[in-house]
Amino acid sequence: MTTLAGKSVLLIIGGGIAAYKTHELVRLMKTRGAAVRIILSKAAEQFVTPLSLASLSGEKVYTSLFSLTDEVEMGHIQLSRAADLLVVAPATADLMAKMAHGLADDLASTALLATDKRVLVAPAMNVRMWRHPATIRNVETLKLDGVAVVGPNDGEMACGEFGPGRMAEPNEILAAIIDMLKPRAQPLAGKKVVITAGPTREPIDPVRFISNHSSGKQGYAIARAAADLGAEAILVSGPVSLPLPPGVQVMPVETAQEMLEMCEGEMPADIAIFTAAVADWRVAAESHEKLKKTGSGPPSLTLIENPDILATISRSAKRPRIVVGFAAETERVTEHAAQKLKNKGCDLIVANDVSRDSGVFGGDRNTVHLVSAAGVEDWPPLSKDDVAQKLMERLAQMLVPQQKAAE
Ligand code: PMT
Repeated sequence: MTTLAGKSVLLIIGGGIAAYKTHELVRLMKTRGAAVRIILSKAAEQFVTPLSLASLSGEKVYTSLFSLTDEVEMGHIQLSRAADLLVVAPATADLMAKMAHGLADDLASTALLATDKRVLVAPAMNVRMWRHPATIRNVETLKLDGVAVVGPNDGEMACGEFGPGRMAEPNEILAAIIDMLKPRAQPLAGKKVVITAGPTREPIDPVRFISNHSSGKQGYAIARAAADLGAEAILVSGPVSLPLPPGVQVMPVETAQEMLEMCEGEMPADIAIFTAAVADWRVAAESHEKLKKTGSGPPSLTLIENPDILATISRSAKRPRIVVGFAAETERVTEHAAQKLKNKGCDLIVANDVSRDSGVFGGDRNTVHLVSAAGVEDWPPLSKDDVAQKLMERLAQMLVPQQKAAE
């Protein structure tokens, strides 16, 4: 039986009929040796009592943000940080909406906003609420924020309707908790990984710029995966609107020139991964005033080439041990990627098809091909998170034999 001994879980119980199942969840966690602290939302008190939960957990159950005794014994910030994992079950539509928008108007939502620990939610609600565009948006936001989701399951609801919305069973939630708390290998501990992500913005005048459709999602996922494997992850990011990934140091830049300077400043590193969609050209002479319509036709812009960041770092004296480029192609994907591998002097190119209907720019999925001197390896369609995790695991394996040979 997998143990949770030494682990501490903060269980936040939302106000839904599924709250009754948390008695069994608390019992299962305690059987595995976890310390379980509980916050009951105001609405949850209508379904379960602090007394029953305190008896099962052997700990005081917290209910109110403004209880002075609780703040003296253990403030809400400490309550959420002392845990190894926060579990929200049942996660109601209302509680998830608060989480997605960063609201903090009671103890449950305040603890969730104040935490720096991983969070697992087990949604439970009526099927129409689960399928409402607002809930879909909120769940997507939570996933982007790194929140893990277990369930909901299909089945008959307390309201008599049928469909997805039933909270996952206590043993399924326990399995997700065990998975999230299991010790992870940290093969990149002590290693520095520099990642570029997002687009660059090349100014034309104070209000206009040249850029592209990169959202930064693939690069941010790679930075998260590098940090999860124990690396010091440095993310040199063009302008994007994504949440800061936990455990990653983000260095914001705008132009290709700034991105190059930031990357050079971060060398030496063990691995560098260039996912950014860098503008190949910039305007030769940026106007310091807004360009005006003159009546004599549109202005002509002279473009000059930007530095190639990947090629520059690949050929520098401080070259990282492993240099990975990406290739965004719209035709003859692997053929063009193989050419880039040679031209840019990197160890690996991750090629992806970014044709208009591929949905790669800004989407959550990617189909990549790994192009190296050894040949081409095709990966199946995956989420960008899975591409990131698989790629980082592969790079960690490549780094370790190199290191053993050097010793
Ligand atoms: O950001 P997302 O919406 O998640 O989309 C992900 C992505 C499509 C941007 C990503 O998967 C990707 O393909 N990134 C590379 C985009 C690109 O600019 O490809 P490229 O073929 O033009 O460039 C090849 C390589 O050279 C890339 O590693 C690029 O970062 C690098 N490069 C290019 C030009 C330049 N001046 N400097 C560079 O370093």
